[in-house]
Amino acid sequence: MKKVGVAILGLGVVGGGTYQILTEHREYYQKTQDVDIVVESVLELNRERALALGVPEEKVASNIAEVISNPDVNIVVEVIGGIGCARDFVLAALNAGKTVVTSNKELVCKYSHELERAAKRHNAGLYFEASCVGGVPVIRTLLDGVQANHITGMMGIINGTTNYILTKMSNEGASYEEVLKEAQKLGYAEANPSADVEGFDAAYKLSILSSLAFHTKVPFIKVFREGITGIATEDIAHGKELGYALKLLAIGKQSEQGIEVRVHPTFIRKEHPLAAVNDSFNAVYLTGDAVDDVMLYGRGAGALPTGSAIVSDIIYAATHSENKYSTFKNNATAEKDVKFVNDFSSAYYLRLTVADKAGVLSKISAIFGRYGISIVEMIQKANENGQATLILVTHETKELSVRNAVSKINALDEIAKVESILRVVA
Ligand code: HSE
Repeated sequence: MKKVGVAILGLGVVGGGTYQILTEHREYYQKTQDVDIVVESVLELNRERALALGVPEEKVASNIAEVISNPDVNIVVEVIGGIGCARDFVLAALNAGKTVVTSNKELVCKYSHELERAAKRHNAGLYFEASCVGGVPVIRTLLDGVQANHITGMMGIINGTTNYILTKMSNEGASYEEVLKEAQKLGYAEANPSADVEGFDAAYKLSILSSLAFHTKVPFIKVFREGITGIATEDIAHGKELGYALKLLAIGKQSEQGIEVRVHPTFIRKEHPLAAVNDSFNAVYLTGDAVDDVMLYGRGAGALPTGSAIVSDIIYAATHSENKYSTFKNNATAEKDVKFVNDFSSAYYLRLTVADKAGVLSKISAIFGRYGISIVEMIQKANENGQATLILVTHETKELSVRNAVSKINALDEIAKVESILRVVA
């Protein structure tokens, strides 16, 4: 039976999960895959942690050179994260002809061109299923399952932390700050939550997924990004009344106008399958010209779900003699002839505080009319102090038109103020 040696760089949550799966399922893979996958080395500064996980002492390496020079190691798993030493270690492994399996979305998003070049030069594999949406096999689906299609669109809930926060805010009417604190206490959110709550994590993943879906490099800087830190509980409640759920959506589209990629909080109709994706669950909804709609749902993070994605890559690499690389020209920047849509179109939800007196509404609607913005729905609720709250939902219109109209409304002699603007998927 073929024997394949694995090294794991980093025994944190995901590294630990990967070690557990590989050791507990070793005999199962011998039976089902006809391959003996053995953990030959781990690189973990906290030796005690490695030993506590059951790693034999002689397999705990002291430095990267020891791992890479080990002839029994065929596949190096990188689960350190970030683009510091992880990038150097991955490049060193590839340059030594070792196949790399990584869960590092920032590394793949920003340096896939450099890594793939090194991998090809040294006939090594480079696999990164775990970099996007944890245990949900979206990368394999894009690379294999839906290759027959022109993918025209994708929408995803691809960050579990923000989905957990928005679900709690919606169910409990709690504020963003309250739920974030609780999520940090439970270990769902990081002590420094900005990568998740500001949408960076989702934008890295969208850059990777849309590059694969649209067969062209979609650089991170092309992704429009807005996080959830400014979300008011009040808006979630108004949206609910109108039949919407609020989600941090990652949206990718490809049409004659070009490629459009954006991450932002979005109201989606409660009948849409993505509206039912709650708590820390993730989902990706793809649309292809032949297959129509496909939705993948599952756990986007965690030791065993992410370990599952890593081990699937290990098994793929161990059982295929040919390496599989990305299906697009993998450069640092976008191809010159590829167009990107900057001024995208969407429907919008707006909440305004207005003076509750004659003539105000007509001034507001005149501004919308001037910018070609058509209203689908409007609710007015009387407040105290002679003011009212106006909730408006528009037909699809250009982002720039909405921004211009909002600045004109805000300049209306203090009789109207736009409190929130959220995009809507009808
Ligand atoms: N921090 C991510 C999330 C998991 O909350 O979904 C790893 O990508």
